[in-house]
Amino acid sequence: MAFVVAEPCIKCKYTDCVEVCPVNCFYEGKNFLVIHPDECIDCGSCEPACPAQAIFPEADLPSKWAEYKQLNAEYSTQWPNITEKKQALPEADTFKNVKDKRPLLDPEPA
Ligand code: SF4
Ligand code: F3S
Repeated sequence: MAFVVAEPCIKCKYTDCVEVCPVNCFYEGKNFLVIHPDECIDCGSCEPACPAQAIFPEADLPSKWAEYKQLNAEYSTQWPNITEKKQALPEADTFKNVKDKRPLLDPEPA
């Protein structure tokens, strides 16, 4: 099992999750972060740290966001590693509670 970043992260990217991860297993796209499922040690530290409540243990991933398991696995092999917290995206607070953000996910690496 691993933890998974789901839709609420899109266009927010607060990066508080990065700061608490003991194994640096977050990878960065332009407006979304993912977790490498083979590197995550299931410590659970990132889940409560995310202001957008975007992170779930795989077993608790809401079914409407099931696709994000695959997206994390895929993009974590294509995007650069991120190991330090940075400023959230400028529109983060606006997009935190916006629904149906999947079409806004930018597939490009950071
Ligand atoms: Fe990192 Fe722990 Fe979150 Fe896995 S559960 S991504 S190891 S902070
Ligand atoms: Fe995204 Fe939450 Fe981390 S918004 S960057 S998963 S703190």
